[in-house]
Amino acid sequence: MTEPLNTITYKPHAVQRRFHEDPASQRWFCAGYGVGKTTVGVMEAFSLATITHPGYVGIVAAPTYPLLMQAWFSEWCQWIPRDWWTLHRDPKKGDELVVRTPTGESSKILLRSTSNPWSNEGVNAAWLVYDEAPREKNREAFNVLQGRLRRGYPGRQRVTILTGPPQSMKHWTAEEFGTAPDPSVGRTGTVHHWRTRTHAVIRARTQDNPYLPPDYEPKLRNRPGASKAWAKQYLDAEFGAMEGQVWSMFSRSVHVVPAASLVGRVWRRVNAGVDWGWAHPGVMLVAGEDALGNIYVLAEEVHQERTITDTPGGWVTIGKALAAKWKVDRWFCDPSQPQAIEALHKGLRRARATVVYPADNDVAEGIRRVAALFEWAVERANVTQTILAPRDYRSRLTHGGHAATLVGGTQHPGLYISDACTDTIACLESYARKKDRNGVVLEDPVKVGDDPADALRYLVMGTTNP
Ligand SMILES: Nc1ncnc2c1ncn2[C@@H]1O[C@H](COP(=O)(O)OP(=O)(O)OP(=O)(O)O)[C@@H](O)[C@H]1O
Ligand SMILES: [Mg+2]
Repeated sequence: MTEPLNTITYKPHAVQRRFHEDPASQRWFCAGYGVGKTTVGVMEAFSLATITHPGYVGIVAAPTYPLLMQAWFSEWCQWIPRDWWTLHRDPKKGDELVVRTPTGESSKILLRSTSNPWSNEGVNAAWLVYDEAPREKNREAFNVLQGRLRRGYPGRQRVTILTGPPQSMKHWTAEEFGTAPDPSVGRTGTVHHWRTRTHAVIRARTQDNPYLPPDYEPKLRNRPGASKAWAKQYLDAEFGAMEGQVWSMFSRSVHVVPAASLVGRVWRRVNAGVDWGWAHPGVMLVAGEDALGNIYVLAEEVHQERTITDTPGGWVTIGKALAAKWKVDRWFCDPSQPQAIEALHKGLRRARATVVYPADNDVAEGIRRVAALFEWAVERANVTQTILAPRDYRSRLTHGGHAATLVGGTQHPGLYISDACTDTIACLESYARKKDRNGVVLEDPVKVGDDPADALRYLVMGTTNP
């Protein structure tokens, strides 16, 4: 049998597929090392040039020209049959690819670096693929390129594709796309994939690429000098670990679990934590405690300017709905407002529901306990990975051992958050300690945006107090 000529056999892995299928006109493949970012950029460029905008101009950019050629162009050569395109080199205007389309037209792809501003003047492009965009510190360079998206196939949307790992929460990519879902600004979805009408972010970890050799990720992770913060950002695609972050061990890949995996589980007890607020949001968190003492935050309610009353939208009504849905046993509330606790208590008692306590507001101790639970979860994730290395996997299963029970004999519970709790997750990642005038990190956390963190402290203090 002869090989058919001129075909591309590209089978996107699950996260690549999710990226290609998202309809937003501006998409960021926010992914770690080796996830297949550049490959995604090649496939998007190819289909934009030949199918979406045949006969029009597109731009492929990278922060530097050598990077563009080493990464994007070499991946292009690997995937796209050689007789479908030609490379025209022009040291003055910049290089370009000319690609044949199925309808016999030709499309142009301009190869550009944002470190060299030449020759974008007069360009009218239909789409932009920007490989390793987050390496560019300067937003201006991106604006200039995007400003070139002026003409495409009539009636078809002009598209911007960014690929590259997440940077700090203050980086221009984070400002443009956000660092987590936030329904208050129309950004919906999960921590792995969030979107507005125009923008979408699809996050992927190095381990999500099944085409990499099995030792690729562990080698990077265990390389001397690879700090935990580095691995979080560049392998797990987490936004830059913040300086002074209170719970710096918090990691989406360890502590965030899919809401669907928690449905129908049986809990030893269900507890809630409450932080009252008016101008700042008030927060109610509900968490299930399993037989081993692991705590799973199942649901959050975060609202501003709600009264503590049993009226539609009031906190007592919200509390009753949570109590009914999750069968909450105990409520641990911000002790600073006894009348609010009393109102919730009355409302729930009438619903024959639960017990309400003023919570223990020892901030330092609460932070320490939450940290310990997060750390045990990390510890367990590491041990589980080692123990369940492929060869061991079957024997462990046949011996019926739960991996976690093999951790040094003692079982320590961990703390996990459902991916439905997007405000809580965002808060955990940004909850930071104050700094003094010289930038020295102080003990006290910043009192802004800390409301879910406070509710979590109350909940954990209540749950772990004897
Ligand atoms: N869907 C796929 N099918 C087969 N191979 C793939 C696929 N996606 C990526 N690869 C291969 O996996 C490797 C890594 O892909 P790629 O270079 O696109 O990743 P990257 O995220 O850009 O990596 P880096 O972090 O090094 O820039 C390459 O060898 C690429 O050919
Ligand atoms: Mg790449």
